[in-house]
Amino acid sequence: MKIVTVLGARPQFIKACMLSRLLQDDDTINEIIVHTGQHYDKNMSDVFFTQLQLPAPDYNLGAGSGSHGKQTAAMMIHLEEVINTEKPDIVLVYGDTNSTLAGSLAAAKLHVPVAHVEAGLRSFNKRMPEEINRVVTDHLSSILFAPSQAAVDHLAREGIRDGVYQTGDIMYDAVLHYKEKAFHQSDIFERLQIEAKDYYLATVHRAENTDEPNRLQNILKAFQHLDKKVVFPLHPRTKRALEKGNEGTHSNILFIEPLNYLDMLVMESQAKMILTDSGGIQKEAYMLRTPCITLRKETEWEETVREKWNTLLDPADPAEWSKAVANIKVPSSYTPLFGDGNTAGQIYRIVNNLPFTTS
Ligand code: UD1
Repeated sequence: MKIVTVLGARPQFIKACMLSRLLQDDDTINEIIVHTGQHYDKNMSDVFFTQLQLPAPDYNLGAGSGSHGKQTAAMMIHLEEVINTEKPDIVLVYGDTNSTLAGSLAAAKLHVPVAHVEAGLRSFNKRMPEEINRVVTDHLSSILFAPSQAAVDHLAREGIRDGVYQTGDIMYDAVLHYKEKAFHQSDIFERLQIEAKDYYLATVHRAENTDEPNRLQNILKAFQHLDKKVVFPLHPRTKRALEKGNEGTHSNILFIEPLNYLDMLVMESQAKMILTDSGGIQKEAYMLRTPCITLRKETEWEETVREKWNTLLDPADPAEWSKAVANIKVPSSYTPLFGDGNTAGQIYRIVNNLPFTTS
């Protein structure tokens, strides 16, 4: 069986590493890894391939940054060529980025079945590019790996029932696999001169928060007034926004470069609380039992809010923040939501049993 795996953005390297390992170890499966080039800085891409032992891509499409149309189109033009050359039995896509959309559109139009890992997520906010990407991808996919019952239910409500498998969440596999190694290898506490539970960890990269200057300023104001230092790894988009306009005092905020996966795991698990607008980090916070505040009005990871480990807080309202943060308690109960840590194994077995001939 031949599989073309399409990756492009930081969280997809994390999602793919556990499954790729199994696919690459199987002599009957030929996995071709295609990097769209959506993320290209060393600390957004290469470092993940090295640290997660992800095989080097067979193709790098070099799509780079741009408007949604430009970026997605650049990926699709090259993906069409790759799919025509490689003639895979399946195209495997992860998550909800423009790389996911480009992969699923290019494959579906060439009549190649699409397998979607992390299917069925919904924020119900179509102003988020990710929501459009995931809805379209799910509707183009023949094989859908849903991380939770809620995701299966969303798909069913949209009439997608065939080819849906509830597998758990593949990021949980990576958390379990790398957590111990992270604690052995990472020296992030020494580098940043911080101590466990004595800092907040913040990440902000969504266009809705970064591209509206008032909103970003409000977020920084709120961070400035928190009772502990806020460690804030900067996504390049956020860094650029701050360079354009950055008023006020930020003495309580430690701005740092994007972190590699192992450092991030340590920082997430030892933070007093995580403040983020990232979907993946909300989930990792839950998996690592760190309370999380999501800087958005809604989330596609609704289960984490229901379980009270995640709280939605609208960044438009900084005055309420310190109070809200102070009032958040660490929940006394914890329900495993994301499977048993063997999602990659389940997906591998399902893929392996699909009725394709070896090519
Ligand atoms: C993308 C995904 C988002 C995901 C995130 C993970 C889409 C629509 N969004 O958002 O779902 O949560 O990745 O990080 O696909 N840039 C660099 N160097 C890089 C990559 C990006 O400088 O290596 C800068 C560029 O200025 C670029 C901007 O960051 O324009 C945004 O990058 P892009 O990949 O378009 O979106 P993300 O915000 O990273």
